[in-house]
Amino acid sequence: MAVTVITIDGPSGSGKGTIARRVADALGYHLLDSGALYRLTAISAVKRGVAFDDVEGLAAVAHDLDVEFASNEDGDERIWLDGIDVTHDVRKETTGTNASKVAAIPEVRSALIDRQRAFQRAPGLVADGRDMGTQVFTSAPLKIFLTASAEERARRRHKQLKDKGMDVSLAALSRDIEVRDQRDSERSVAPLKPAEDARILDSSGKSIEAVTQTVLDWVAEL
Ligand code: DC
Repeated sequence: MAVTVITIDGPSGSGKGTIARRVADALGYHLLDSGALYRLTAISAVKRGVAFDDVEGLAAVAHDLDVEFASNEDGDERIWLDGIDVTHDVRKETTGTNASKVAAIPEVRSALIDRQRAFQRAPGLVADGRDMGTQVFTSAPLKIFLTASAEERARRRHKQLKDKGMDVSLAALSRDIEVRDQRDSERSVAPLKPAEDARILDSSGKSIEAVTQTVLDWVAEL
C-alpha cells in the first residue's frame, strides 16, 4: 500500500509543529518531528561530553540515539533519551540553538536520514522540519513551506515558552530566531528553502484552525 507523505518545512516559529500535529491527528497519520532528532543529538552530545566540532563524534551520537517518543495519559508528548525523560530539555531555547549548530554538519544529517525515513508507515506521515521536502521525502505528493513574519514568529515562540514556564525576553528571542534562521538558510548542506514543487503558506495573522484547514483542503485535492 502506498504511504502518503505530507511534508511541512519552514523557519522556527512558523507554526509547523502545531499544524503538523493537527493535520496528522485529523488524518490519523503518523508524525515526524525531525527537529526533535537534531535537538536530541545536541542534548546527547552535551551529556556525553562530545564537542560541537567533533564531526565523527557527533555523527556517532546521531546514529546511536536511543529515543522514544510517547504520550502520557493526557495525550501530551513525552520524549525519552537513554531511558530518561528529556521532554523539558528538548524544548529549551539553548537546545534549539545547539540543534541548529549540529544540524549544519553534513555527517550528522546523513546519520539521521534512515531514522527519519523509517517514520514513513501506513496510512501516512506528516513530516515537519527544514528539509523534509527537499532531501528526506523528495517524492512526497504534497510539500508545504510554512512561513510567517519574523515578528509574529518571535511572538509565538515567546508565548509557547512562557506557557511552558520558561522565562525569556522577546527581544532576546527575536535575535536568537534571526541568527538561527540565517544559519539554517545559509548552511551549505540542506539549507532551509522551499522545494521547487512546494506550496507556500503564510500563516501570519491566520488562526491555527484556518491554516490547518488549508492544508487539509490541499490533502483532499490529492
Ligand atoms: O524545528 P526545531 O526548532 O525543533 O529545529 C531545531 C533545529 O534543528 C533548527 O534550528 C534547524 C535544525 N533542523 C534541521 O536542520 N533540519 C530539520 N529537518 C529539522 C530541524
